[in-house]
Amino acid sequence: MQHSKASELFAKLPKAELHLHIEGSFEPKLMFEIAQRNQIELPYKSVEEIRAAYEFNSLQDFLDIYYAGMSVLQHTQDYYDLTMAYLKKSHADNVKHVEIFFDPQGHTERGVPFETVITGIHSALEDGQAKFGISFKLIMSYLRHLSEEDAFKTWEEAQHHLSIIDGIGLDSSEVGHPPSKFKNVFAEAKAKGLKLVAHAGEEGPPEYVYEALDILEIDRVDHGNRSLEDTDLVQRLVHEQKTLTVCPLSNLKLCVVSDMKDHPLRKMLEMGLAATINSDDPSYFGGYMNANFNAVDKALDLTLEETVLLARNSVTGSFAELDRQKELLQEIEAISAPYLHNV
Ligand code: HPA
Ligand code: ZN
Repeated sequence: MQHSKASELFAKLPKAELHLHIEGSFEPKLMFEIAQRNQIELPYKSVEEIRAAYEFNSLQDFLDIYYAGMSVLQHTQDYYDLTMAYLKKSHADNVKHVEIFFDPQGHTERGVPFETVITGIHSALEDGQAKFGISFKLIMSYLRHLSEEDAFKTWEEAQHHLSIIDGIGLDSSEVGHPPSKFKNVFAEAKAKGLKLVAHAGEEGPPEYVYEALDILEIDRVDHGNRSLEDTDLVQRLVHEQKTLTVCPLSNLKLCVVSDMKDHPLRKMLEMGLAATINSDDPSYFGGYMNANFNAVDKALDLTLEETVLLARNSVTGSFAELDRQKELLQEIEAISAPYLHNV
């Protein structure tokens, strides 16, 4: 649903999605289909019953349901179908480049081979690129509630697949699991030339964002909302132009903000932070890329300039090759020009 000129423009602009857990795009309907073909019983009787369970008071509330949902995924085809469904939604939203997180430990700990997971996801990404022109990067995330030793085991398994893994991420329960816990395993990935990102400052304090920057040496901050509590940190993020992958509907559903009218997105842009809009776990939080924009726009009445800036930030903050970035930026300029000069 569009509310404004800004929403109309955003829907038309090419964009990159930089914060998306592929397992969080698992729609209830597909979950039922896959559960049925794998002969797994879900603890819900209907799509409506699943949706009714999506009321969260915190990140942990959500994670419990998120891990339960992904547990029906078993075969390469399941991972393929999951990823292709996300790409179709993204195509409809004019998303032209995606950087997808996947949580191998959520699958390998249930006995699904690493290779099954990555092959299904990657072949859908390749087909999505051919079919929809959506370029992509793949980011393997470690579950931070598990140990660094566990992360190292996953890193070992990933060695056979490094040609298709572009980056490393860090997700799951934040508080009590600071970035420093993963110092050594991140250093290995950096030495191999992989890009690095980490969830920091979603529920955790600004100190976790400092750790992600200084100890893990990340290229991008996932969420980063609580950075705003520390003016020195904000100054540094602005100075370094570190991209923040902000997820408005996620923030609302997980009570990181209590009302969309209080969302800090505009403030972030005004302070010069390189903020972007992303959907995080769209099936659980109520919408994909454009729905996230529309929700903020409805609450904050975003300007056309802010709209274009958000699309630009998503491209310049991506790990896409510079030629690809240039191509997308040129499209953004061409599409936005009549809006910016004709009002
Ligand atoms: N935060 C932390 N871990 C996650 C999230 C999130 O928003 N989504 C999936 N895993
Ligand atoms: Zn996330």
